[in-house]
Amino acid sequence: MSNVLTGIKPTGLPHIGNYLGAIKPAIDLSKNGSVADEFFYFIADYHSLTGIKSRDTFQEVVYQVAATWLACGLDPKRVVFYKQSDIPEIFELAWILSCHIPKGDLNRAHAYKAAVTENSEKGKDLDSGINMGLYSYPVLMAADILLFDTNIVPVGQDQVQHVEITRSIAQRINQSYGDILVLPQEMIRKEAGAVVGLDGRKMSKSYNNSIPLFESEKGLKKLVNRITTDSTPPEAPKNPDSSLLYSYYSLFATPPDLACFRDQLLKGISWGEAKAQLFELINGELKIYRDNYSKIIADKSFIDSCLRDGALKAREIADKRLKKIRAAIIGG
Ligand code: ADP
Ligand code: TRP
Repeated sequence: MSNVLTGIKPTGLPHIGNYLGAIKPAIDLSKNGSVADEFFYFIADYHSLTGIKSRDTFQEVVYQVAATWLACGLDPKRVVFYKQSDIPEIFELAWILSCHIPKGDLNRAHAYKAAVTENSEKGKDLDSGINMGLYSYPVLMAADILLFDTNIVPVGQDQVQHVEITRSIAQRINQSYGDILVLPQEMIRKEAGAVVGLDGRKMSKSYNNSIPLFESEKGLKKLVNRITTDSTPPEAPKNPDSSLLYSYYSLFATPPDLACFRDQLLKGISWGEAKAQLFELINGELKIYRDNYSKIIADKSFIDSCLRDGALKAREIADKRLKKIRAAIIGG
C-alpha cells in the first residue's frame, strides 16, 4: 500500500514553474497506476489564510487552483481531490503534531526565517507582521501529509525543508508511541525543481518574473520576446548552456527535439528565430490547458461538485486515521 499526496497553496494564477515543478509531475504520476494505490491532490486553502485577508480574494484563488488542477488533466475518478478546509481532521492532527515539535525547529523554517531577516534589515521588530499561521505553517503541512499515510510527496525544491520537518515530527512521535506514522519522501523532478524566472531568479509570483501558465497566445509571445539574450550576431554560433532561452526549451522539448534545437544554436540561428521556435513549443503544450481552464473556471458548480465528492472520500479515510492516532496518543 503506497500513497502519493501533494497540495498547492492558492495565491493567484499559477506560472510555468508551478506547472513544471509541481502540477505536471503530480498529474503524470497519477496516470501511472503502478506507482501507488492512492493519490491525494488538494488545495491547501487554509495555508493561504496566513497572507490573504479578504473573503472574495480567498474564494477567487481557491477556484483558480481547483480549475488549474482540473484543466491540466487531474482525473477526480483516479485522484482524491479536495480542499484542505473541508477536512477538519487535518487541524486536530496539526495540534497534536505541534505538541511534538521543538519550537526551535520552526524558528529555522525558511519562510519564517526570511520574514524575520526582512524585518531585521528594515530595522523593525523581528516578529513584526508575522502571524502564528506563518510560523506554524510547516506543522499544518505535516498534518496534511501524515494524516493520509503518505509515502511520496511530489513538490518543487522549495518545499523540501517542509517534508524534512514532517519526517522529523513523525520520527519523534513514532519513538514515543510506536510506529503509527508513515515517513514521507519528497519527489522532485530534477530538471524542473527550480524553474528560473525571466529575470534569472527563481520563478515566483512574488518576484513578478513569471510566465503565467494560462497566458494568452499574444501575451506568451510578448513574454518569450522579453527573454534576455546576448549580442551575438544573427548567423554566429550561440552557446546553449549560458542561454535562458535554451533552458526553457529544455523544459518542454523531447530529447530529440532538444538535440536538434541545440544543434541549430551551435550552427547559428538568430535569437529571433530561436524565440519563435520556443514560442511554438510552449504554446503547443499549453494551448489545450488554456482552453480547458477558461471553460472550467466559468463553471463553478462543476468545480464545487468535484470538491464535494473528493471531500467525502478524503474524510472517510481521515476519520479512520485520526481515530487510530488519537487512540495511540491519548487513548481514544
Ligand atoms: P510561488 O513561489 O510562485 O508563490 P508556490 O510557493 O505557490 O509558488 O508553489 C506552488 C508549488 O510550485 C510548490 O510545489 C513549489 O515547489 C512549486 N514551485 C514554485 N515555484 C517553482 C519554480 N520556480 N520551479 C519549480 N517549482 C516551483
Ligand atoms: N506548501 C505548499 C506550497 O506552498 C502547499 C502544501 C500544503 C503542500 N500542504 C502540502 C504540498 C502537503 C505538499 C504536501 O505550495
